[in-house]
Amino acid sequence: MDSNGVYGRIKSGLARNPAKWLVTGVAGFIGSNLLETLLKLGQTVVGLDNFATGYQKNLDVVRRLVDKTGDWERFTFLEGDIRDLDTCRKACSGVDFVLHQAALGSVPRSIEDPISTHESNLTGFVNMLVAAKETGVKRFVYASSSSVYGDEPNLPKVEDKIGEALSPYAVTKLANELYAGVFAKNFGLQTIGLRYFNVFGPRQDPDGVYAAVIPKWFQGLLEGQTVFINGDGETSRDFCFIENCVQANILSACTQNPQAANQVYNVACGKRTTLNELFAMIRELAATTNPAISAANPVYRDFRPGDVRHSLADISKAKTLLGFFPEISVDTGLSKSAEWYCGCSKVE
Ligand SMILES: NC(=O)c1ccc[n+]([C@@H]2O[C@H](COP(=O)([O-])OP(=O)(O)OC[C@H]3O[C@@H](n4cnc5c(N)ncnc54)[C@H](O)[C@@H]3O)[C@@H](O)[C@H]2O)c1
Repeated sequence: MDSNGVYGRIKSGLARNPAKWLVTGVAGFIGSNLLETLLKLGQTVVGLDNFATGYQKNLDVVRRLVDKTGDWERFTFLEGDIRDLDTCRKACSGVDFVLHQAALGSVPRSIEDPISTHESNLTGFVNMLVAAKETGVKRFVYASSSSVYGDEPNLPKVEDKIGEALSPYAVTKLANELYAGVFAKNFGLQTIGLRYFNVFGPRQDPDGVYAAVIPKWFQGLLEGQTVFINGDGETSRDFCFIENCVQANILSACTQNPQAANQVYNVACGKRTTLNELFAMIRELAATTNPAISAANPVYRDFRPGDVRHSLADISKAKTLLGFFPEISVDTGLSKSAEWYCGCSKVE
């Protein structure tokens, strides 16, 4: 199957027959990127967020990117919390497709505060399923996570072979998948879960103790701070640029393949990058703004407890059933991210 062709055809179909979408977590990293793409594709979008970890500035950036074409007028923002069922009902009203991203990310946060993680990631998730079922949405696509693989040792990770969960965060994402399956069986709600593997790109938050490694390292190098690597740097991850993640969401919502619904899929590139390799790439990109950065070296410290050594996805299921094809490689994605982080640091 020509995978690029599948996505191209779906985008053309959407342009001819626009739909109404709900993006929860719309002020966050992934949500705001979904919003940008959907508006550029001529779709009508409702966005829901409580600004727990998202920002008004992410919405403002999207507005600046699409305002000239009038696309912003097709966006309605609801400030609200998915822990409130009525808010979820209001948000789902008249919606064709839900892209549910709202959740508290971060494994360490969930270990420190399991109750907050549970409330947003699980109670909020069930509220969203109930609201989607009641309002008759066509398909409910939701963010799961590679963390559901837990202690499963084999690489690459294949969807039907998971281990024991290692954190409250992983438990919530696994429970999301179980609930989605039960709502599909009992109520006929079509659901698709996307197990994201280390998504990165513009608007990913570099600040705070729970920040992800790529934005944190870009910002650290640009601001002349010490950049730490936990362990020896040979830990590896399957980093996935945001545009690939957006593609997976749109394909999941729109696929006509009858076998594709009520499944979970890995969303990744299917390639491993070590932290040492990643650091070298980010340093080279950051050094284009200030040559002194090319002399920066990371400081190695202890492995972080609970971190898995290697992570790599088998993406053949998403390729076969959804027509997913990760078009943007890690190095191209890092270059695109550098434009964002370097541009931002110059502005601020
Ligand atoms: N970024 C990754 O690499 C990655 C990997 C695996 C899974 N995920 C999942 O993808 C989704 C999006 O992640 P992200 O990286 O964009 O994180 P993010 O923190 O930037 O976005 C999450 C958004 O959800 C909102 N939110 C949180 N709790 C809410 C609540 N109770 N009600 C309403 N809004 C709420 C936040 O304010 C934020 O805007 C999350 O479900 C996350 O668990 C992300």
